[in-house]
Amino acid sequence: MFLVEPYSFLTARLWHGRCCGTTALVNQNWMLDIVETVSHFGEPLARFVMKSFLKSFFALGLLAGVSVSAAELNVYSHRHYDSDAILFKQFTKETGIKINVVKASADQLIQRLISEGKNSPADALLTVDAGRLHRAKAAGVLQPVKSRALAKKVPAPMRDPEGHWFGMTVRSRVIVYSKDRVKPSDLSTYEALAKPEWKGRVVARSSSNIYNQSLLASIIAANGKDKALAWAKAVRKNMARSPRGSDRDQARAVAAGLADVAIMNTYYLGILANSAVAADREVAAKVGVFFPNQDGRGAHINVSGGGVTASAKNKKEAIRFLEFLTSAKSQEAFGNVNHEYPVIIKNNKSELLKSWGSFKADDVNLSVLGAKNAEAVKLFDLAGWE
Ligand SMILES: [Fe+2]
Repeated sequence: MFLVEPYSFLTARLWHGRCCGTTALVNQNWMLDIVETVSHFGEPLARFVMKSFLKSFFALGLLAGVSVSAAELNVYSHRHYDSDAILFKQFTKETGIKINVVKASADQLIQRLISEGKNSPADALLTVDAGRLHRAKAAGVLQPVKSRALAKKVPAPMRDPEGHWFGMTVRSRVIVYSKDRVKPSDLSTYEALAKPEWKGRVVARSSSNIYNQSLLASIIAANGKDKALAWAKAVRKNMARSPRGSDRDQARAVAAGLADVAIMNTYYLGILANSAVAADREVAAKVGVFFPNQDGRGAHINVSGGGVTASAKNKKEAIRFLEFLTSAKSQEAFGNVNHEYPVIIKNNKSELLKSWGSFKADDVNLSVLGAKNAEAVKLFDLAGWE
């Protein structure tokens, strides 16, 4: 009987070690072997052997536990940008904390966190779009975090009011136009793209894309669902082709003369402008950026962000990691490498982003985009925007 308690305790420690991604060479079967071998001796001898074993093992285990939790951080990330690899390396250099990354789509990662439950090895989740961050919170896979640094560095509309997620970068979904065929003075608002004068001149990606869902959610928040539905219907009718492709493909369509304006995120234009492929750079040169709704609520923005997972074994390190990503240096790197805005937009230091001009951003709390996501999806269906 005396073997039961220590075994389960050890098993728990070992499991913890494995969750944290240690290279512990022990496993449950190995432990069973030890326990069974020890029990073949007489009880006094077995007790002595077990005691000595446990003493040294606990010492080693505790040491391993300390070094593991201080040295590693497991991140589930939907982000797939060069900026992140650079910043993760820098974080390890500055803190000694190694980062293990699992990359997949946000929905896959959220599903994985749900299935893994409290045994999940993940400490932090990074993803794009407030709609997805909201989904992660609603699924119960994030935990509330209190950090003075995060509260100070991330403006209130760009973080969850309860601290489940924090914006790390800002992206603006704008109107990109053909410099040959459209004058900026022809453009004004997202709403104006519904007018008949844009018939056959608009391109946008599919409504299954969360960037579009969040844009429509912001229009619902601003104008109400009836007007939002009418807008989606009219813009769909004005499209030069059925919705398809990525954001970059919309810019390519405008550059190729297939359409005159596209709805897309600015950073993709930055990626095209800095591409190793000459044709991409030509696309970027042929189009301009227009920030809509400057006389009203401002251009639609969204965030890419992260939170600490509900299962985090390395919570302190995960918070430190999020704080690192919102530091001035990291914010600048996001701008220079991935052409995203810092969470405090006016702190932008990227020359390319400056060349697009300063703009007024819609300051609706981004958690609203998540809350209105289901309604946006429904309206897109009703509007026939595939
Ligand atoms: Fe993206």
